[in-house]
Amino acid sequence: QKKTYFSTELLAWYRRHRRDLPWRRSRNPYYIWISEVMLQQTRVDTVIPYFNRFIERFPTTEALANAPEEDVLKLWEGLGYYSRARNLQAAVREVHERYGGVVPNTKEEISSLKGVGPYTSGAVLSIAYNVPEPAVDGNVMRVLSRYFLIEEDIMKGSTRVLMEKLAKELIPDGAAGDFNQGLMELGALVCTPRSPHCLTCSVMEHCAAREAGMEEALPVKKKA
Ligand code: ADE
Repeated sequence: QKKTYFSTELLAWYRRHRRDLPWRRSRNPYYIWISEVMLQQTRVDTVIPYFNRFIERFPTTEALANAPEEDVLKLWEGLGYYSRARNLQAAVREVHERYGGVVPNTKEEISSLKGVGPYTSGAVLSIAYNVPEPAVDGNVMRVLSRYFLIEEDIMKGSTRVLMEKLAKELIPDGAAGDFNQGLMELGALVCTPRSPHCLTCSVMEHCAAREAGMEEALPVKKKA
């Protein structure tokens, strides 16, 4: 069936093509969290050296919690969106005060931290703890809107809710982290905004957009 095929093939593709990235060398939730915050508005190639410098200078939640804010911002220089860095440090301080320095592993607790929205919480829970929560970003919405021919405007909150529900249903048992990363990776490398690489796509066979010749027309994104 269409959903099972998608989940099985995507997971197998990811496990064959997984890129070796610095934040994939550990399951440390603090490292995963930093990487996901950096990756939200910034490309993988740009993030790599910033991530490496950051964890070298602040190897633990304790090191980041105790650092002067200006040192954190200094290491963030060039990445932009500095509120990300301020929120990350504020949230790590909360982790210290409330959770003894351990990044929490439930949706409720992690979502209560400053700057941690549905995407970041799902990414950290699934990648670090293998908790079956979805992590829906722009890449993931593009993949899902195409494969399942979802023509709702992705700028609408209701569309995100629908995508999160679908993405959660698709997670194979015990493989939340790899599956979610596979979705992101397929969106980044194969199911690209322009000229998607359908002929090398592991789920092309049942892709509804491909069947309808609509891959470049999706996702629908109206002006805010
Ligand atoms: N983009 C967002 N999260 C990512 C991850 N974990 N790996 C690669 N690209 C990403």
